[in-house]
Amino acid sequence: MKIQSIRGVKDILPEEIWKWQWVESIAHKIFSRYGFNEIRVPIFEDTRLFSRSIGETTDIVEKEMYTFQDRGGDSITLRPEGTASVVRAYIEHKMYAPPSVSKMFYIGPMFRYERPQAGRLRQFYQIGVEAMGSPSPAVDVEVMTMLIEFFRELGLKDSQLQINSLGNQNCRPKYREILKSAIEKHLDKLCKNCINRYERNPLRVLDCKAEQCKEIAQNLPKMIDHLDEASEQHFAEVRALLDVAKTPYTINTNLVRGLDYYNMTAFEVTSENLGAQNAICGGGRYDTLVEELSGPSTPCFGFALGLERLVSLVPFKEESNTNPDIFIVCLGDTAKIPGFQAAHELRLAGFQVERDYEMASMKSQMRKANKSNCRFTLIIGENEISSGKYILKNMAEGDQHEINSKSLSTEMTKQVNTNN
Ligand code: HAM
Repeated sequence: MKIQSIRGVKDILPEEIWKWQWVESIAHKIFSRYGFNEIRVPIFEDTRLFSRSIGETTDIVEKEMYTFQDRGGDSITLRPEGTASVVRAYIEHKMYAPPSVSKMFYIGPMFRYERPQAGRLRQFYQIGVEAMGSPSPAVDVEVMTMLIEFFRELGLKDSQLQINSLGNQNCRPKYREILKSAIEKHLDKLCKNCINRYERNPLRVLDCKAEQCKEIAQNLPKMIDHLDEASEQHFAEVRALLDVAKTPYTINTNLVRGLDYYNMTAFEVTSENLGAQNAICGGGRYDTLVEELSGPSTPCFGFALGLERLVSLVPFKEESNTNPDIFIVCLGDTAKIPGFQAAHELRLAGFQVERDYEMASMKSQMRKANKSNCRFTLIIGENEISSGKYILKNMAEGDQHEINSKSLSTEMTKQVNTNN
């Protein structure tokens, strides 16, 4: 029986992993400039952590979680996102103790039982960022600017930053009621999904993708017209600081996000080159979540981006690939040990070395060397062993000369330096 991978998951193969590693290394570089350190949290948690933080009436909690009972009878969920776990860790390890902002990022797989399609997987990777401990709009803008700087460093073009304000605990409940009564007038024209959820989560009607709902949503009351003074002030400062940082953005009054923990600033970065699933990244402020999970009052701001979507957009340069420096061709039984030794010595000296293990014909080994895109081929046969001089072929130039087998790594270093 041939067993295949599960629907909606993807292998990342060795020939493409360099792209992921490069993107991740740029994330490390840019994020560290802003004081963010990596945190690694488990990929499964107590189910209640996610249902409480993401929200009982969200699509994620209602329909998309991978939840199971472990052998001890506890309800466990594979994380559908990272924020809840980081907040749990923040409280558990009392990271609020020093009076400063905790800045963390994470990279890893998330799990959602969604309908798989281009750009939408059941296991997908996120890079997420959380800044915990300050209500300042400067944090919102620093984090969004850091993200844009990260995208710029990756060479990403045609991405749009969209922002909105979702207000706070003071003004959102009032707006929710205003919105609900406005939606009621159009109930007969809305999609089935919106009819079902308008009572429990009316804000989601605003960003429904169904054509008939989109049109109605355009004319529904906007949150930004119902902000209280504090929320309005916060949003104004965010916009002013984005202007100072020369970070272009548009205000999308229908942007609400699919997770319940947000307040004040919410944002997404989209790309027209992604197709239907056009969000590369989403995030915002979540000032009450730490307290809701029994921690001290801690205003926070963060985002997560979809790595599959991001990697598909980055214009990679082919040179970033890692081809071997040297391919060793060993001819005949007598070359077995010297070939092994040469590979060992050159790897210890820092070279990337590939070789043939089958000891096949010269022609077949040279074909493999060519295919590997190596810079040099080192040929070791009976004659070379008895003379103590191996043959080194420069694959780009086509020329070849002898190098002393006793001082292989020093001679090889010279060769690489003169050919650079
Ligand atoms: P989210 O909007 O649910 O936010 O996910 C963030 C990003 O993950 C999306 O913009 C998308 O690129 C990617 N993504 C989501 N679902 C899938 C999927 N099924 N397949 C492929 N990619 C997907 C969050 O997860 C929040 N925790 C973000 C956050 C952090 N807010 C504050 N801090």
